[in-house]
Amino acid sequence: MKSNSLTMFVLVTSVCLFGAVIYNEDVRSIAKFPFSLRSGGGREDHYYQEEDLTFEDAELPPEECDLFDGEWVFDNHTRPLYKEDECEFLSAQVTCLRNGRKDSLYQNWRWQPRDCSLPKFKARLLLQKLRNKRMMFVGDSLNRNQWESMVCMVQSIIPVGRKSLVKSGSLTIFRSEGYNATIEFYWAPFLVESNSDNPKMHSILNRVIMPESIQKHGRSWVGVDYLIFNTYIWWMNTVKMKVLRGSFHDGSAEYDEIDRPVAYMRVMRTWAKWVDENVEPNRTQVFFSSMSPIHIKSLDWNNPEGIKCAKETMPVLNATVPPQVGTDRRLFSVLTNFTVAMRVPVYVNNITGLSEFRKDAHTSIYTLRQGQLLTREQQADPKTYADCIHWCLPGVPDTWNELLYARIISRS
Ligand SMILES: *[C@@H]1O[C@H](CO)[C@@H](O)[C@H](O)[C@H]1NC(C)=O
Ligand SMILES: *[C@@H]1O[C@H](CO)[C@@H](O)[C@H](O)[C@H]1NC(C)=O
Ligand SMILES: *[C@@H]1O[C@H](CO)[C@@H](O)[C@H](O)[C@H]1NC(C)=O
Ligand SMILES: *[C@@H]1O[C@H](CO)[C@@H](O)[C@H](O)[C@H]1NC(C)=O
Ligand SMILES: *[C@@H]1O[C@H](CO)[C@@H](O)[C@H](O)[C@H]1NC(C)=O
Ligand SMILES: *[C@@H]1O[C@H](CO)[C@@H](O)[C@H](O)[C@H]1NC(C)=O
Repeated sequence: MKSNSLTMFVLVTSVCLFGAVIYNEDVRSIAKFPFSLRSGGGREDHYYQEEDLTFEDAELPPEECDLFDGEWVFDNHTRPLYKEDECEFLSAQVTCLRNGRKDSLYQNWRWQPRDCSLPKFKARLLLQKLRNKRMMFVGDSLNRNQWESMVCMVQSIIPVGRKSLVKSGSLTIFRSEGYNATIEFYWAPFLVESNSDNPKMHSILNRVIMPESIQKHGRSWVGVDYLIFNTYIWWMNTVKMKVLRGSFHDGSAEYDEIDRPVAYMRVMRTWAKWVDENVEPNRTQVFFSSMSPIHIKSLDWNNPEGIKCAKETMPVLNATVPPQVGTDRRLFSVLTNFTVAMRVPVYVNNITGLSEFRKDAHTSIYTLRQGQLLTREQQADPKTYADCIHWCLPGVPDTWNELLYARIISRS
């Protein structure tokens, strides 16, 4: 590894020097011939190709192995997959250690399927798959959690100055220059149109959706090579969902209150139709992440002394089935009922059960609230302020991405 990175350093440096010399020699000819500038990128690409891993290097689990049935094993040799302070792209929402968390064992658990093993995550192999391609996570803040994790899992092998993060409206784009690859996040917490679509100002208690309206968002998803959808947490505030009569665009404000699974079914129908009509399955792989569970009642895992998830430092380990933490599984069967009947194959990333064991891994009081780190007073009041929805990074979403990775490299 050491000598590889040295080789790369020398190569990149010499390419830069080479470019600088040409640049000084004749600025105008460069301006006229952008290809001579691109040769820098070409050399770097060449470097990557020299180092290309073959897909036989990956030890793939057998197709029939159920990756979601397994257990968490303590493994502080291979976990975490990256360090919190080595990933400049992490948002302050998820950097729990920097935000004051003292215990760090939550970073040291590896998901071990019962009947096989997950392939070792190789960032280079994934970036090769993503060369000249786009990957996009679409959905709510849990999908953003997973997107941040994915960026951190690949970014360390990309040299400084050859990667960037750009926000623009609903879309945030991480880009690798050398691979011409992007890993993007698109904010659409209900997938369909809603009054919570503003990527910054969406903390709306009175949530209203238009379940048959998806085009406003969908047009940004066309042509993407890897699409990873989710929608769950925003459904959970109320037992019924508010569904607009008419359209936001003609000023409608009246709504009906509809049972959650029924409204979810209408949204899934709209989403499935969009995918079937707009996705070319020979180009694009479609994924859907199942519900990310929350841990707000410590009695759910028999801890009468607990305060939400705030005092938890270990996963639930002494159980073979995950604890009942109030996940609405009805929505899971709505989802799978649609996906089995679609023209485009959809891979459901079943993150729900395995994450239900992880009461220890939420951001809790080591996070932001309305853009600000929790104050000491707020931290002293976890009953009110602990966030037992989102996850610290590195952490559980890294495993969701390992599962995604296993699927992506299996399809080579
Ligand atoms: C890993 O965990 C073991 C057992 O708790 C401990 O003895 C060891 O020091 C740990 N190693 C690292 C690198 O943290
Ligand atoms: C870079 O990737 C985009 C897709 O993200 C693709 O449309 C474009 O052709 C690629 N550029 C090159 C030079 O291959
Ligand atoms: C994918 O399939 C469509 C329809 O069968 C075809 O028109 C298109 O050329 C194919 N694209 C690729 C990249 O193979
Ligand atoms: C797991 O352990 C907790 C306390 O450590 C206990 O309260 C609970 O009953 C145990 N559950 C099972 C299934 O053994
Ligand atoms: C999903 O399909 C199964 C089998 O057809 C059916 O029993 C179940 O009620 C359906 N669930 C929902 C939520 O539509
Ligand atoms: C999801 O995985 C869990 C195990 O983690 C399993 O019990 C459950 O049946 C799976 N659900 C679906 C719909 O595959």
